[in-house]
Amino acid sequence: MPGRFLHSFAKPSNEAFINIVRGDMATLWDNAGKEYIDAIGSLWYCQIGHGRKEMADAVARQMSTLETYSTFDPFTNPLADATAEKIATLSPIDDARVFLCGSGSEAIDTAMKLARTAQIQSGHPERSVIITRDRGYHGTNYGGTSAQGLPLNKIGYGQLLEGVIQVDADDIEAMSLACEQHAGNIAAIIAEPVQGAGGVWPSSSEYLTQLRRLCDAHGAYLIFDEVITGFGRLGTWFGAHYYNVVPDMLTFAKGVTSGYQPLGGVICGPQVNDALLSDPQFFLRTGYTYSGHASVCAAALKNIEIMERENLVPRAQHVGARIEDGLRALTDDGTLTGYRGAGAIWAGKLPEGLDATVIRDQMIRSGVIARAIPGVIAFCPPLVITDQQIDHVLDVFTATVQQATSA
Ligand SMILES: Cc1ncc(COP(=O)(O)O)c(C=O)c1O
Repeated sequence: MPGRFLHSFAKPSNEAFINIVRGDMATLWDNAGKEYIDAIGSLWYCQIGHGRKEMADAVARQMSTLETYSTFDPFTNPLADATAEKIATLSPIDDARVFLCGSGSEAIDTAMKLARTAQIQSGHPERSVIITRDRGYHGTNYGGTSAQGLPLNKIGYGQLLEGVIQVDADDIEAMSLACEQHAGNIAAIIAEPVQGAGGVWPSSSEYLTQLRRLCDAHGAYLIFDEVITGFGRLGTWFGAHYYNVVPDMLTFAKGVTSGYQPLGGVICGPQVNDALLSDPQFFLRTGYTYSGHASVCAAALKNIEIMERENLVPRAQHVGARIEDGLRALTDDGTLTGYRGAGAIWAGKLPEGLDATVIRDQMIRSGVIARAIPGVIAFCPPLVITDQQIDHVLDVFTATVQQATSA
């Protein structure tokens, strides 16, 4: 019989799970005492490593002062204000305001709602179409399910959101055509600077610059979904810095707390902020009970402080370069059929006929946790992973692929 816990992205009939009970930086242990290296940052989120007491202390301190209190009008709390302030100073967007919520899915759904409502407030109710990209992953709420470009995740949930369409990823002609087809009616284009869950596909600066131009030409907002790329993952605070393209809104989650508490949010730029302020009587009727949760914000502030103190943003470049070197060597010697990535997110392409899930499972048996995506194994380790651990991850990956190829 399966247990009581109904798992996400799993067969409900599954009875066997690996029970992770303890972590220390990039090392994990299961309930049988087996040790693993975490080469995927749990689910692309753990920048500072696991089990850090400083984080627990910061959250506990806040909880014993005030766990949290509503931030719906007329209330606020100092942690929510400080978190928004800190994120605005790190943001690639000048004069930013920051909406807070509990996850990447809530962030994306909020950004979609903000895009449509800000278009209305700026006098353009006709601009309601949201264009997203194939292979994109934007979470599993109804907005994100409608916006994502991974077809299997969209099946079986009834009618999805109207006016949300996908075009080929990284094909500026396709995007340009869609913009022509919906000219005058586009609220926003959403893109991940590096598509993560869809298989690790980095954009080019030219492509994102062209997206910016298309948005400007059509009066649409450019939204970067930086739930994975945000908070240092690419060796810059945000993917917008890495690609030097400034969006109108930017969604974040994951790395903002390294997963110590659930936090997401939307950074809004002047175009959106001005629209929301254009009518002083306008009331923003969206938000979540835990928007601006004080103990969650305590984790964000401490996580960012640790990232700054330990120089983890530049460290991402080092971690990424070492993984890239390894994957290049494995491609050159024919073990892999290619690799792709940016910053500290990488994927190694498996030879034809190898099943990524089988490779992942074998790697887990050998003590390395990476992520299986059809055709590739993905790596996105905590930024505190040591060089020896990276080399061990690559050794286990090499041995696993070579064994499977020769079997
Ligand atoms: C780019 C992107 N957007 C949104 C999400 C959804 O985030 P969450 O699972 O926190 O709801 C994810 C999660 O992986 C993501 O990678």
